Amino acid sequence: MVIAFVNHKGGVGKTTTVAHTGYALAMSGKRVLVIDCDAQANLSAHFGIRSAESLYSIFKNPSAALPIVNIPVHSLHTKTSGTGNVGTLDILPSHRSLENAESEFTSLDGREYLLAEIIERTHLHDHYDAILLDCPPSLGLMTTNALTAARYAIIVMQTEFFALDGIAALYDKVNALKKRINKRLYIAGVLATMHDKRKALHKQILIAIQTEFHDTIFESVIRNSVAFAESSAVGKTIFQYQPGSPAVRDYEAFAKELLQKGIVGEKA
Ligand SMILES: Nc1ncnc2c1ncn2[C@@H]1O[C@H](COP(=O)(O)OP(=O)(O)OP(=O)(O)O)[C@@H](O)[C@H]1O
Ligand SMILES: [Mg+2]
Repeated sequence: MVIAFVNHKGGVGKTTTVAHTGYALAMSGKRVLVIDCDAQANLSAHFGIRSAESLYSIFKNPSAALPIVNIPVHSLHTKTSGTGNVGTLDILPSHRSLENAESEFTSLDGREYLLAEIIERTHLHDHYDAILLDCPPSLGLMTTNALTAARYAIIVMQTEFFALDGIAALYDKVNALKKRINKRLYIAGVLATMHDKRKALHKQILIAIQTEFHDTIFESVIRNSVAFAESSAVGKTIFQYQPGSPAVRDYEAFAKELLQKGIVGEKA
């Protein structure tokens, strides 16, 4: 399945979620592609990838081969991941030139379908069990492209003050796009991140989010841990850098929830 991780609010954990969910799904045997749809190229940096190519290069030259890079995945054999076969993890990286797409294609007919067409044309659905899209912090062209290509949208939300601000605009965007462009798009749920259960405010906000999205909030909650920033600074996930970190379990649990709910299945 193609899953877009969205929130136009910045710094809520979208990129961290795509990197770790991708890695966790690959550890549990899935063939995973993560696509960096953000000109900030944070997801690429998260895996230590610096690329001059990005979706922009393919938008400009549709016959070019996809600049896909493989990330080696190792099983952790933790209690929750089990000891099954390891899958694969690939990334389609980004580069700051992707920023040009926003202005360059604004009046292009069919500009919403650029990514969906690439996925279709290169038969990525046949090659992967899951395609995860890391969206930029805006509701612009790349987020529109991601939501057009996706079957599911997952809203990443920090359990911080103002978490719910702007969410109505995001729902409006998804619903308008669903009506006009992608009828199959479905909001799979809300993932709460950076949660510090020792903080009363975080607990209150988590309850507020759970009340607001009672039927669509994921049971898995991602805790606040410095391990995330530390590992991303060296171009790794915490699975690779701090496999003993308790936070490892949160993304394993989230990946498991995606599998159990059938959001990630056999084929992308
Ligand atoms: N669970 C967590 N606990 C602590 N820090 C975290 C957690 N998740 C992410 N971070 C840190 O918070 C910062 C923002 O995270 P991230 O880049 O994933 O957010 P984002 O939503 O992708 O941001 P942007 O909107 O700019 O793309 C990063 O420094 C990251 O390492
Ligand atoms: Mg990001």
